[in-house]
Amino acid sequence: MGQTITEKILGDHLVEGELTPGEEIGIEIDQVLTQDTTGTMVWLQFEALDLDEVQTELAAQYCDHQTYQFDFKNTDDHRFLRSAAGTYGAYFSRPGNGICHQVHKENFAAPGKTLLGSDSHTPTPGGLGELAIGAGGLDIAVAMGGGPYYVEMPEVVNVHLEGELPEWATAKDVALHLLGELTVKGGVGKIFEYTGPGAEKLSIPERTTITNLGTELGATSSIFATDEKTKDWLARQDREEEHVDLQPDDDAEYAETIEVDLGELEPLVAAPSMPDNVAPVSEYEGTDVEQVIIGSCTNGAYEDILPSAKMLEGREVNKGTEMIVAPGSKQASEMLAREGWTAEMMAAGVNFSEATCGACIGIGHVPASDSVSLRTFNRNFEGRSGIEDDSVFLCSPEVATAAAITGKIVDPRDLAADLGDLEAPGLEMGTKYGPGMGQDDADIISPDEAIDDGLVKGPNIGDVPLKDGIDVDGGEALLKMKDNITTDHIIPATADILKFRSNIEKLSEFTLSRVDDTFAQRALDADGGVLVAGENYGQGSSREHAALCPMYLGIEAVFAQSFARIHKANLFNFGIVPLAIDAETYEKIEQGDDLEIVDDVPAGVSSGQEEFTVSVNGEWEFTADLDASEREREILSAGGKLSWVKQQHVDD
Ligand code: F3S
Repeated sequence: MGQTITEKILGDHLVEGELTPGEEIGIEIDQVLTQDTTGTMVWLQFEALDLDEVQTELAAQYCDHQTYQFDFKNTDDHRFLRSAAGTYGAYFSRPGNGICHQVHKENFAAPGKTLLGSDSHTPTPGGLGELAIGAGGLDIAVAMGGGPYYVEMPEVVNVHLEGELPEWATAKDVALHLLGELTVKGGVGKIFEYTGPGAEKLSIPERTTITNLGTELGATSSIFATDEKTKDWLARQDREEEHVDLQPDDDAEYAETIEVDLGELEPLVAAPSMPDNVAPVSEYEGTDVEQVIIGSCTNGAYEDILPSAKMLEGREVNKGTEMIVAPGSKQASEMLAREGWTAEMMAAGVNFSEATCGACIGIGHVPASDSVSLRTFNRNFEGRSGIEDDSVFLCSPEVATAAAITGKIVDPRDLAADLGDLEAPGLEMGTKYGPGMGQDDADIISPDEAIDDGLVKGPNIGDVPLKDGIDVDGGEALLKMKDNITTDHIIPATADILKFRSNIEKLSEFTLSRVDDTFAQRALDADGGVLVAGENYGQGSSREHAALCPMYLGIEAVFAQSFARIHKANLFNFGIVPLAIDAETYEKIEQGDDLEIVDDVPAGVSSGQEEFTVSVNGEWEFTADLDASEREREILSAGGKLSWVKQQHVDD
């Protein structure tokens, strides 16, 4: 039977399991990337593995989320990340050099390779034929240590593109169209493979805009076949030799096929406050706009900003509207500057930002209260822009620029008809600035150029707590919680707490503080214990600190009616036993009860025991279930994934 592109790449990298949807597979990782808000913990975990250097073909550390360094803790983090990259042999992209996905695409992404990144938009270089997946920090550290990445084999969905984009419709509209049709849950457990004559007409930046937004569909990854356009784009980055021909077989079988006729698309927006709240621009025409921002990892390439520059030629930004351009990389900034576009745009009233995530996560350019902001980003969740009652629309650079010119949401087709001399800009590769902007770029320090003076840790950077083996026999039920406790409840993500992400001792003081602000101190005083919760414990993000901090406080086990999938994996990763209880037991347990596990837990975990007897205050008993794969039991027995990996290396 023929294979999809996904099956071909996964098949080449398979170290465990079979390519059957829903089954766990282990794959070898060629490249990893981390960014500054997740990278510190990744490197601290890597340090704990006691390896001399990264084992993957390539590792790259980017500094993009907190480049403004408004607190010395951010600057210390960047210095630590540079020292870690130098010590262990990773590329280091300096603060301001750009957003990880754009810079990785420009410099390192290669067709046929696997990439694992500690950022959810890691699948961006799928537009170049790289199979890229976002994961938690510990998974990145383990991959850098040479361990496989384990994931449930996704279903492969074919998005078959016909036709050609009409004037003023863009790649952003392809992605928004899919979001409108499939919703933000439509891609869960799936990889989207884009094929067809329409796909061949799209440029590489257009393709990567689409693969970037695949994350908003919940997809594991998104990927395009490679062709002459891929080869040409790589050549412009001085990397032509990395081109590989990648096509699905003619008789490849997909779980599902979605047909999209590009010729029928029109300019779209995602209205506040979800990326799948999609409508034609015309539905919101006439809405006043106070702010327009072009950039981010979605639309921050040179080819994304150029159409905006062309639309502004001979025109001005509306006096009541602020227009900000935040290029996705310094390469994009430099190309625009060398070709004179930056000066033209500044003369038209555009304010340029450094190449950073910045406004995308509410750091800078926060919209005014009760105002509309149009952004070319990928997310418009309520409050993400830095103000609670925000009103953020997502759109293409063309729609954003039309709003900047008029001060109102306007369909660029209508604006062109009104003005008479506004032409659809189309896309154009950089002509005056060609190859050579790749790895020689002074803003990327290669492993060979790095100064290896060892790790430099500021006062805010602590150690990773490490457990050796499993020593679980129960303890006091320190907290009894309701249903749907989120990772935000367990470790809040506000800026004043986020800055302690590399200091687990300090961060753990905030553990479950949104549920009970005495919890952390009580856990320390009691020398650990257990947690009790209702349904869906740990829902929300993949935040590994939500398991790491409880582990630091000595939490041995969580008794819950059910667990959110990713959080349950994180509990295994940090040596905490997730035990399922029924509703009746949940009702009977009181906070403060002494829950003693009668069975020998270490022996039971390693022998495959599924039921454990628990005595409550020595007065009554219940049964708790451990649902764990063989690999998860090994991880628990080792005391967590870090210890498990270390053992494997010692055994080797
Ligand atoms: Fe940065 Fe926003 Fe992309 S935070 S990585 S620009 S989604």
